[in-house]
Amino acid sequence: MKPRVFCSFPLSPEVSEQLGSDCELRWWSRHLPPTPEELREALACCNGFICLLTDTVDEALLLDCPDLEWVSSVSVGVDHVDVDALIKRGVPLGHTPGVLVDTTADLAFALLLAAARRVAEGDRFVRSGNWRAENRWSPDMFVGKDVSGATLGIVGLGAIGRAMARRAQGFGMRVLGWSRSQRAVAGVENVEFDELIRQSDFVSLHVALTADTRNLFSAEVLAQMKPGSVLINTARGGIVDENALARLLREKRLAAAGFDVFAVEPIAPDNPLLDLDNMVLVPHIGSASSSTRRRMLELAVANGLSALRGQSMQHCVNPEVYEPPGK
Ligand code: DGY
Repeated sequence: MKPRVFCSFPLSPEVSEQLGSDCELRWWSRHLPPTPEELREALACCNGFICLLTDTVDEALLLDCPDLEWVSSVSVGVDHVDVDALIKRGVPLGHTPGVLVDTTADLAFALLLAAARRVAEGDRFVRSGNWRAENRWSPDMFVGKDVSGATLGIVGLGAIGRAMARRAQGFGMRVLGWSRSQRAVAGVENVEFDELIRQSDFVSLHVALTADTRNLFSAEVLAQMKPGSVLINTARGGIVDENALARLLREKRLAAAGFDVFAVEPIAPDNPLLDLDNMVLVPHIGSASSSTRRRMLELAVANGLSALRGQSMQHCVNPEVYEPPGK
């Protein structure tokens, strides 16, 4: 009997053909994503799972899926998966590093420019018919912040953080960087976290969401940011205290923010950030270019095929599951 694989989203005929020779493939084709109960039911007798960052893979799910042998996520971030629980069960987890670096850094820089120069706010002003004689051009109309020559602080100097640094250098910015490993990067001044927060005109977040980075930008840290500075987040929502950020933006202590990611996604209708003109919001589209999304899916499928063929996944988050016991 062929192993059974469940995919939580519809697959193109080419991809299902590619996978279908190695397994019995099932996928979720309903418009709404599976609820945790539906996911449990769908996965109950499956050996492999190709998932999205919107699928929670936790201990409770694993308990109900005794046959599950591998998981492959179409994402680089894996905070939706309880990796420790997978390690305990010896289940490898695949992800998609590398292929979304430039696409995500492009969006981070787009948010930085949009927040600095009030692009989304200006767009809303023009569309809503407010650009009229009584609101004509004036020297103080929609003034924002200069990007060229300003200081950018990058939190997390992994591949996306470094790609952000290259973009900033092209705009003549001074670039400060902080990472736990104190990684040396050409053109980036390594500084202490507190110094980065206090000196930067723009701060951009590029760390994974882990127990260490959850709420890293707490109310206290946000309050220490340079007055009039701008916060950009294309990493994960859980890194920032959104209520504290909303207060600082409302009081204009911070000039603006540009976020792609939120603590709750889709964003809750009562999220206070939604009411603020100096907040640019986009719906978790950091990796959303057609070629990057295609490459992410290719990597996830390749990880799945390796598992189906009894090989190690090429991009495995928890390679320790391949080590012989007792090592
Ligand atoms: C990921 O892959 O983790 C990204 O957040 C998708 O844009």
